[in-house]
Formats: sequence, structure tokens, C-alpha cells
Amino acid sequence: MFTRKSVWSAGGDFSDPTLLWYAKGVAVLKQRPIADPTSWSFLAAMHGMDNNLWIQLGYLNATQPLPDPSVQDSYWKQCQHQSWYFLPWHRGYLYSLESIVRAAVIQAGGPADWALPYWNYSDQTNPNARDLPPAFSQQTMPDGTPNPLYVPQRYGQQKGTLPLPTGDVALTALQSTFFTGSNTGGDPGFGGPATPFSHSGNTSGNLESLPHNIVHVDVGNYLRGGVTATDLGLMTNPDTAALDPIFYLHHANIDRLWEVWLNRNSANQNPTDSAWLNGPADRGFIVPMADGQGWPYTANDVLSTTTLGYDYDDIQDPLSGATARTTRLTQLGRASDVSFSLSGGDEAMTDKQRAELIGANSDKLTLLGSSVSTRVHLDEPMMQQTSVSFDLSADVPEPDHIYLNLENIRSDVDGQVIDVYVSPPGADHAESQVGSVALFGVRKASQSDQPHGGMGVTQVFDITHVVDALYLEGGLIDLSSLEVHLRPRDALTEEHNVTVERISIYREGK
Ligand code: C2O
Repeated sequence: MFTRKSVWSAGGDFSDPTLLWYAKGVAVLKQRPIADPTSWSFLAAMHGMDNNLWIQLGYLNATQPLPDPSVQDSYWKQCQHQSWYFLPWHRGYLYSLESIVRAAVIQAGGPADWALPYWNYSDQTNPNARDLPPAFSQQTMPDGTPNPLYVPQRYGQQKGTLPLPTGDVALTALQSTFFTGSNTGGDPGFGGPATPFSHSGNTSGNLESLPHNIVHVDVGNYLRGGVTATDLGLMTNPDTAALDPIFYLHHANIDRLWEVWLNRNSANQNPTDSAWLNGPADRGFIVPMADGQGWPYTANDVLSTTTLGYDYDDIQDPLSGATARTTRLTQLGRASDVSFSLSGGDEAMTDKQRAELIGANSDKLTLLGSSVSTRVHLDEPMMQQTSVSFDLSADVPEPDHIYLNLENIRSDVDGQVIDVYVSPPGADHAESQVGSVALFGVRKASQSDQPHGGMGVTQVFDITHVVDALYLEGGLIDLSSLEVHLRPRDALTEEHNVTVERISIYREGK
């Protein structure tokens, strides 16, 4: 069994043999030509590829022969996003990369049990957790040669998003009570909505939104206005992200969090649908192994890490069993209700629910500057009915859940992060942030020549805690509308061309 360990467990620098040998292995892979399936560039192109951009950034030599078109068609541009295949596809992808690096490490005289480390940026017991480990930020190796783990196009350091902000590494996704979510306004689930092969577009699952998407853009960030693709950090764009060696440590952590979620509650289960286990029907997944031969796989082949020959040194639950409801009650100063809710609990939510639209804003929004607000009118009879279930003293095991949807977000550039707040009309919203949306892969999802026809991405926030708080303050009784405030962290211009087709609020309950 190969054990994947925390990158910080031995200091995060080159005194850790795992990192020293990762660097040496990456250097070997980087020397291989792109036509070789075990090369660094071939592996990165399996995630996403943009030939012109790679040439402009210096990651592709235009004179080098590419693999056969048939090989490109089956191997390249596979990454699964906004999809229930997000977790299994990336697991197989890491398995391939790790096997290929390990073979290179062994050949170079390194440890036979080398395994990919993971970057646990959410570890509250480690004050350095949110910072890029030093082995990635130093330009040279201890022997003075260039460091293969360093890439210049990582702008988070200059832009102040490294160390990662605490809110950007929050693990609320672990409180999801089912894997497969909906595409229709309610909970997008831990693992994402059911889709066919999904290279981009649609609704991210909870873990994919946070911390996955936001860590990508916080690390990569961008230079200047960030309006041209060459100004983006590698991690900011899915077509370049996997060229950055930190990518694989980020994804090893996401893969580990899948295990944490399964382990923290026996009610948390993987899908059993054949479409997930054996799909996608429209295009299969395939990755090269260390000998260069292809390994076709499905979710069913990657359900067990131990079958794949690896485990993690830590899959303890960092939330100590807290459910979304116990967390809300604690935030509301109603922790004494926690014992009640632990018995009723969020487990009532494991049955699939149907989401109902309560209200929406009226016009498509264009995001310009650093603050845009819109009003969402709510259906009053539905809201009255909803508020009843927020009465914590009433005999309801779990209130309705309320979801804010930013539908069909489109953008001409990736890399922006937009903080989202909700408040009653006219109220101060400074304290009522419901989350953030990170534009990772949104440009691609906005292009009409892409499979989803340029529908952009949809972001869903559980705003139940905000509505809970309003109810407790007595403010919910006459609630006929809510204001939604979008605050881009950097001011947006017409060149960014960020739009949100509709902002809606849904209710999902028993
Ligand atoms: Cu396929 Cu983190 O991206």
C-alpha cells in the first residue's frame, strides 16, 4: 500500500524526500516529448489543452510533433467538471500521474514507495497550512539547479490570495448529505449533478465549488487586469492548470476529502446508478500507465483507493461530526438546541428532494465595478409556509433548505472571485456573506462552440442559515423580497463581460 501524506508533515520543503523526489520525477517527465503519453505535457493535456496559449506561455514548442489525432481524441481534454464524474475522473487521473512519477523516481534511484503528497490547506492545527509549501515557491533546488516544482505563473502571492483566505478553504461541502445533486435549483450534492461526459459547463457539486474552484484561482490568480489568457496564472485556467505541479497536490487533497466524507457518516454513500458506475456512455475515460499503455476506467474501477493500491495518512473528520444544522444553531447562539437536532438531524435530507422556485430577479445582470445588487421577489404564500418550518421550537426535524442560484454565469475571462451577500431590502449586508463564486473554467463554459452551447456555469448557495437568522430576529415574517449583492474582489470592466442570466431562490424540503 502506498500512503499519501500531508505535504506539511515533514515541513513542506526539500528536506522532505517525498518532495525532493517529486521534483526529480517531474524533471524527468518534463524532458519527455509531448508525443510520449508519460510526458508532463501529455499528462497536462489530458486535463485541458489550448495549443496557442501553451506556445505563447512557453509550454509547447510549435515544431515538436504532437501525438496522432486519434490519440489526442481519446486522451486529451478529458477533465470532468460540473458533473458527478468530477471525483472519479480526477481519481483515475491522479492514479496515472502518480504511477508514472513513481516509475521515474524508482528509475532515478528514489524510494520504491514514493506516493503523491496532498495539500491540506484546511488544517486548522497547522498555522502554515494555507500557504504554498516552500518546495513550490523556491526558484532553485538545494543544489542550485532550477526547481521543477516552481512555475512563474502563480500570481496568488503577488495578489495577496496566498496564504489562502480562511473562508476559501472552508469544508462545508463535507456536510452534504448526498452525493448526486440536482441541476434544478436545489442542493448540487457533494459530488455534483448527474451529467453525461462533461468537460465544462453547468452546476458544480459542493466540493467542486468550495474549496476546489476557489483554490485554483487563488493560487493562479492573474497579472494586470487579467483580461488576456496569457495574463492568467496556470492554475486559473483548466487548459493550463495541470502544467503546475501544485495541481496534483490540490487534487490529492480533494480526492482525500472524498474519503473523509464517506468516512464521517455511514449515511454518506457513493451513487449506485449504473450511469455513474459504468459511464459516461458518450465518451469513456482513459489514462496511460507507467509503461505508456492505456488504462480505460469507469467510476466503478476507482471506488476503492486500496484496490488502486493507496491510502491517506489521515481521513479523520475535521468537523467532528457537525451537521449543517448543528453548525447553523451554534452560529445562531442556539447551541442548546443541538441535542434536539442531532436526533432529528440532517439525515432526513438523504432522500432526494424536489426543489421549488420561490422567486427570481427580473433581468439579466451585467457585473461592472465592484458591487452590483439585485432584488429577488419572493412568493409570499410560499414564504409564509417556509417560515413556519424555521420555527426551531416547532416539531420539525429539519427546516426547509433555501438555495440561492446564480444561473448561467458567463464570462470572457477566468480568474475572478465574486463574494455573494444576501440581506432583507435596505439592511446592512456586511455580515451576511453566503459564499463566493470563483470563475474557474467559466470562459470555456461560455463559448457557444462548447458542448453545453455556452450556457456558462450555475452556482448554488445554501442560504438556510441566513433565513434562519432573519427568522430569529423576527424579520422574516413579512419577507416579500431579498437583496442579493455581488461583490467582485477586483473591479470588473466591460472586457471581463461577466453576466448572470437570472438570480433565483429555491426551497427544498420534505
Ligand atoms: Cu479538473 Cu481542479 O480541475
